[in-house]
Amino acid sequence: MLVDQKNLTTIWFDDEFSLVKIIDQRFLPHELKIVTLFNLEDAEYAIREMQVRGAPLIGVTAAFGMYLASLNNSSNDSMIQSGIFLKNARPTAVNLSWSVNKILKDIESIDVSSRKNFILDLAKKIRSDDIEACRKIGENGASFIEDIYKKKQSPVNILTHCNAGWLATVDWGTALSPIFNANKKNIPIHVWVDETRPRNQGFNLTAWELINENINCSLIVDNVGGHLMQKGMVDLCITGTDRTTSTGDVCNKIGTYLKALAAHDNNIPFYVAAPISSIDFDISDGLKEIPIEERDASEVTSITGLNSNKKLETVSIIPENAKAVNYAFDVTPAKFITKIITEKGNVNPDKESITNLLKV
Ligand code: MRU
Repeated sequence: MLVDQKNLTTIWFDDEFSLVKIIDQRFLPHELKIVTLFNLEDAEYAIREMQVRGAPLIGVTAAFGMYLASLNNSSNDSMIQSGIFLKNARPTAVNLSWSVNKILKDIESIDVSSRKNFILDLAKKIRSDDIEACRKIGENGASFIEDIYKKKQSPVNILTHCNAGWLATVDWGTALSPIFNANKKNIPIHVWVDETRPRNQGFNLTAWELINENINCSLIVDNVGGHLMQKGMVDLCITGTDRTTSTGDVCNKIGTYLKALAAHDNNIPFYVAAPISSIDFDISDGLKEIPIEERDASEVTSITGLNSNKKLETVSIIPENAKAVNYAFDVTPAKFITKIITEKGNVNPDKESITNLLKV
């Protein structure tokens, strides 16, 4: 998508110098920093410290992490250990284990001497498949926005939580892809952007993406959504997901559940955009089976932004010695979800419809 009128993706392989490059998202929207991942440890750090984040992008970064690991040692034992190391970086997004497991399985029949190039090609394919899946999610999800516009003939108000835009994937995004698609079709839209404390991915990343694409948006703090819904100011909600069960329970950024509850109470459709790589077909109970990441309390107790000298600064916002907890994700039960938007079509959040996706 566009940054300063130039197309950019979140991760790429620089063929000329054989380097893996990423945008370090920790400094956005204030600074666009591009860094190189030189080895497995860099890839693990990038995922754990959220230089890259968003379920699909975590998965693609892990694939390149496996390639970087193979430069050092591509024996079975070493690749399995590297896979475990990467998978432990962040526990909730299933895309991470999905891409590591895919690589481990696909290299089984490949001679150790040919693995480096094989894994690099595989990582590049996982990357390009992600772009295509997200582009299709955009096409499939835009129909819901278009239908509302046809009925209402005035800008469609969409609420989104966290960042599930191109920065959370390689390009296009998941929840924002239908929005980008609808905007390119000149459907008038307005997006309510949830702040998404504690790390503020909504303000820092989603707003930045929308502004770069010239999409009308308003920034709101996390508790405003329910009020807007009661006042008829939200036509639909779209979020992404870090892991969706075979029965349609959706795990996503903390606070998603409360938005879905409010949407349900106000008869507002709640859509979840999910590439197949974010669906965990092996589990059926989101509340019991999805590991919820707990992050450092400092993300809650402090906040980072530009100071009056336009320098990034982190300040404490709590009484000294106050205790905080930091759950990063929650689970929205399937009954609160209207449809799941995938690259293979829009499906109901139930076991039959979701498992059928494996056959398409
Ligand atoms: O903690 P983050 O920033 O990695 O969380 C991201 C989200 O919760 C996204 O909504 C989710 O990964 C879907 S991304 C397309």
